[in-house]
Amino acid sequence: MIQTDQEERTAGPLVREITTTDTHPHDAVVANDLVKAFGGGSQRIFRRAKPAKKDQVMAVDHVSMRIARNEIYGVLGANGSGKSTLIRLLSTLLLPDSGTVGIFGYDVVRDERIVKRMLNRVSVEASFFKKLSPFENLMYATRLYGLTGASARREIPIALGRLGIAPDRMHRPLEQMSRGMQQKVAIARAFLTAPVFLLLDEPTTGLDPRSKVDVQEFVLQLRREHDATVLLTTHDMAEADALCDRIAILDRGRVVVEGTPEELKAQAASHDIPEPTMEDAFMVFTGRSLEEAEQDEEPAAR
Ligand SMILES: Nc1ncnc2c1ncn2[C@@H]1O[C@H](COP(=O)(O)OP(=O)(O)O)[C@@H](O)[C@H]1O
Ligand SMILES: [Mg+2]
Repeated sequence: MIQTDQEERTAGPLVREITTTDTHPHDAVVANDLVKAFGGGSQRIFRRAKPAKKDQVMAVDHVSMRIARNEIYGVLGANGSGKSTLIRLLSTLLLPDSGTVGIFGYDVVRDERIVKRMLNRVSVEASFFKKLSPFENLMYATRLYGLTGASARREIPIALGRLGIAPDRMHRPLEQMSRGMQQKVAIARAFLTAPVFLLLDEPTTGLDPRSKVDVQEFVLQLRREHDATVLLTTHDMAEADALCDRIAILDRGRVVVEGTPEELKAQAASHDIPEPTMEDAFMVFTGRSLEEAEQDEEPAAR
């Protein structure tokens, strides 16, 4: 089952019009001291009540961040570090226990309906009509967003083409496509609905190297040509390094460091490792390698 927030949306005014009332022209996203815990009875955690109860997981643990308009912001973390929970908090799919999120000056809780129209989320479990083709699925989705049939027919092949999906693949049932291909269709769909803020939850996990590059180039293009702000999560160090303007490293629900890839690597440099890679930097900031971090988490954490 896929889930984008798409299904819940109705055709509304063009998203770009909404941003003209924005009072914080440089901040696309402002998250303030966000907390989300799971399990262990009460969901509400107060600052002084920490540490959390025994069987409680602090999925997002006092996270604050600002994402500038037109930025590609990466959240890098092991499985179970809280990336998806953070994305769901930022995209109105989950209520925080405490803390606030503003998207272009609108509060995700109070102004949920406005915020929903400005963003789109792509996650690994994207939902489609599997018997229909990519083209048909995208026609359906764009209609919900008020795109006319003519422009949809023109733009759908362009978007799919940019992601490396050839025209002859567009009209076959989606269920015959690989997971990687379906992931690309999900990204194309999110793009076609022209979100001003796009959240991509591990957009390249499980893709072959060629498809990874297609998706990465597509994200760069999206930012360049459509003034989109992108938050993406990944556990691919090289990808975060190459693609993101700034990166936050998340470990056990906490942001342990934030900065440009160059800043993080420079900060991690030492006598022993004068020119660290992003992987070295991850070790320095979290005290363990990605593999070790993943072993510490429950196996099914997603
Ligand atoms: N709906 C949920 N119910 C209970 N625990 C959850 C739920 N969603 C996430 N968690 C837990 O919160 C932590 C962070 O999970 P998640 O945000 O999915 O991490 P990531 O996306 O980085 O893999 C994990 O320990 C996970 O098991
Ligand atoms: Mg996840």
